[in-house]
Amino acid sequence: MRVGILVLSDKGSRGERKDLSGELLRGMCEEAGFSVEVFKILPDEKDEIVQTLKNWCDELKLDLILTSGGTGLHPRDVTPDATKEVIEKEVPGIAEYIRFVSFSSTPMAALSRAIAGIRKETLIVNLPGSPKAIKEIMPSLVKVLKHGVEKLKGDDSECGGG
Ligand code: MTE
Repeated sequence: MRVGILVLSDKGSRGERKDLSGELLRGMCEEAGFSVEVFKILPDEKDEIVQTLKNWCDELKLDLILTSGGTGLHPRDVTPDATKEVIEKEVPGIAEYIRFVSFSSTPMAALSRAIAGIRKETLIVNLPGSPKAIKEIMPSLVKVLKHGVEKLKGDDSECGGG
């Protein structure tokens, strides 16, 4: 599985905040057996995010892009809005699952506008930006991501029901 990690943080991109969630996400992906091919920290600028996502889908043809941060209600949070511009089909169940898993830890999960969707053969999934959130979400999401990418690649074997 060829993965890209895109961290959205104004402070992180200026080097004013150490990027903990991106590095944590990278480690968890590697532990899951994913190959992290690109890793980038960008400011919360919609056009730049759209351009990078399109490039990673269309030129690098990654299997999976995980974004971290910029999903909340702050006026600078634009990750889901940028993602919406890039995807061709939404996969609402992934975002629903992320919030479902998160609610057992915090009601604040209601404040993440994260979405997930497909562009060509790439699955894009938004995650909240805190390391705590990544730790809560990723362990059980990995299985869903693996199966989702298999199906996206055209695997037409029978699903065993998970
Ligand atoms: N989801 C989980 N699992 N754990 C968390 O601590 N924090 C929430 C939410 N989702 C949180 C979570 C909070 S406090 C916010 S404001 C939103 O994610 C948006 O975070 P973001 O802007 O960093 O993406």
